Amino acid sequence: MKSSIIAACAALLAATACTSPEKKTDWTTNAIENARTQIGLEIDTIEASGKFMNPVTLTTNGDVYYCGYADWRSGFFPGSVWYLYELTGDTTLLPLARKYTEAISEAQNLTWHHDIGFIIYCSFGNAFRLAPQPTDKDVIIQAARSLCTRFREKPQVIQSWDVKGNSWQSERGWECPVIIDNMMNLELLFAATRLSGDSTYSRVAIAHANRTLQEHFRPDGSCYHVIDYSIEDGTVRHRHTAQGYAHESAWSRGQAWAIYGFTVCYRETGDRRYLDRAIKTFHFMKNHPNMPDDLIPYWDMDAPGIPDEPRDASSASIIASALYELSTCPVEKPQEYKDYADRIMQSLASDSYTAPIGENGRFVLMHSVGSIPHNSEIDVPLNYADYYYLEALQRKLKLEQ
Ligand code: GLY
Repeated sequence: MKSSIIAACAALLAATACTSPEKKTDWTTNAIENARTQIGLEIDTIEASGKFMNPVTLTTNGDVYYCGYADWRSGFFPGSVWYLYELTGDTTLLPLARKYTEAISEAQNLTWHHDIGFIIYCSFGNAFRLAPQPTDKDVIIQAARSLCTRFREKPQVIQSWDVKGNSWQSERGWECPVIIDNMMNLELLFAATRLSGDSTYSRVAIAHANRTLQEHFRPDGSCYHVIDYSIEDGTVRHRHTAQGYAHESAWSRGQAWAIYGFTVCYRETGDRRYLDRAIKTFHFMKNHPNMPDDLIPYWDMDAPGIPDEPRDASSASIIASALYELSTCPVEKPQEYKDYADRIMQSLASDSYTAPIGENGRFVLMHSVGSIPHNSEIDVPLNYADYYYLEALQRKLKLEQ
């Protein structure tokens, strides 16, 4: 009798073991845990140094490159820590995010390049959204004021780069170069108008977006990287590239900035032309014959050595983040935008693009490209690939809640 009870129990246990579902963790949870651990290691490194170091990428020696506040990429690491806090609810990240954000506050006064929008909105913008301090608002408004000093009346655009001095931009013969990336700086201006009640900032943003809409795009939906305007009469002097393969090629990150930037402008203004622009450039990328199956673009979709050209994970994460927002806009078949973003994100979260813990300079994603024409940052981690990846994860979770 006793032995038959034991046998019955053993059989039941075996059956339970076979049928009880294994604890399954979905890829999103894994991606968040992985990012928390990996960026946590970088935070440990920074904290152990006793000063704020702002990680950007890896040098050719394999060392982490840390930047100063004026670098266009200085807002991404503080912003990533804010997103990590939002994704995990880990309150130990709050004082760190705040400290790293405050460390770059001097950027609010930069007037010698246009990237102040990236810098201040990714850091202070997220700070203000998640754990505002009274001064955050002042920093955002002051940064908008600084950015508007670069507005040029005749062409009605914000000048991206200065052309005097010894920089490589000055060797190109440009007068007033505007890069498509500049669309990303406009979100700061819309925020500054909301916070200050002064419509000057959003008027500058809209003027810039309208001229970009008019000049930066080709009939197939793709965009140029650089449009150079005449300061004197506002006409277009050149349609060029700086970081793409050729003037007429489709530099992938430029397409990503266009999709993201015009989606933001639609959100801020309700102007349908901006939404249509974002959709058209996305469809250009989506339908491109050179788009790989895993949806991580080549650094330039017309690069001559495809399929042996480097991929750019940063373009992929920027596009994914924009698509989650586009899926909430009045578009045909919104679910298709979300599904496409999910497919990009699953690729990025896989071992092909997510680095093993402790490797890759403690950045989350591998395989991005800074600028091949400048022989700089080729197939490396980049802090903005990580930033938009975390933002995309956050947007995905929010949509699904
Ligand atoms: N904004 C510079 C870049 O995308 O490389």
